Amino acid sequence: MAEIIRAAATADADTIATLNRAAFGGEDEVGIIERLRGDGLVAVELVAEQGGVITGHILLSWLPTMMDGRRVKALALAPMAVQPGQQKQGIGGRLIAAALDEARDTGAEAIIVLGHPDYYPRFGFSAALTQNLASPFQGEAFMALELVPAALAGRQGSVSYPSAFGL
Ligand SMILES: CC(C)(COP(=O)(O)OP(=O)(O)OC[C@H]1O[C@@H](n2cnc3c(N)ncnc32)[C@H](O)[C@@H]1OP(=O)(O)O)[C@@H](O)C(=O)NCCC(=O)NCCS
Repeated sequence: MAEIIRAAATADADTIATLNRAAFGGEDEVGIIERLRGDGLVAVELVAEQGGVITGHILLSWLPTMMDGRRVKALALAPMAVQPGQQKQGIGGRLIAAALDEARDTGAEAIIVLGHPDYYPRFGFSAALTQNLASPFQGEAFMALELVPAALAGRQGSVSYPSAFGL
């Protein structure tokens, strides 16, 4: 059955919540998704669908980011989830690739993720790009990808996670 990747629709909300609950084993991400939508911060939200069944979900939201006093148009990649039992078949990778394409159309200059350090680098994310960004996170799991070269270059910057993330 052919897979399609498409924009998430309002009618998908319950299915997306169920998927995230199953993938993460809790309610945290469901709450984040609902608050990001409610606060109007969603920039890209896609689902993977096979035979009418949603198998994966990814969300990118606007993330206030500064570098050396200039505003960087950045997006947070979070959360993303693939249905347990259908993971490791490339669905997540295809969702990321599609989300990066959509992100370019929004005018975003960079994407920031807190995630598995073995996974996101294969799509071009790097912890080196976040080293000068003050944030609640640090280390190899805190990664970024530049859609515009040198978007995050600079000496001292910061990332301010919106309250939707509940940090
Ligand atoms: C992470 C996730 C979205 C990847 O989706 P997917 O469809 O399985 O991804 P792909 O098939 O494109 O890629 C599979 C790769 O993801 C890697 N991966 C999956 N979960 C991982 C984890 N917890 N830590 C490190 N790597 C992980 C696998 O090692 C696999 O690598 P391989 O191809 O070398 O075996 C999915 O596993 C998931 O929903 N996990 C639970 C929720 C979660 O952790 N979300 C991400 C938060 S950052």
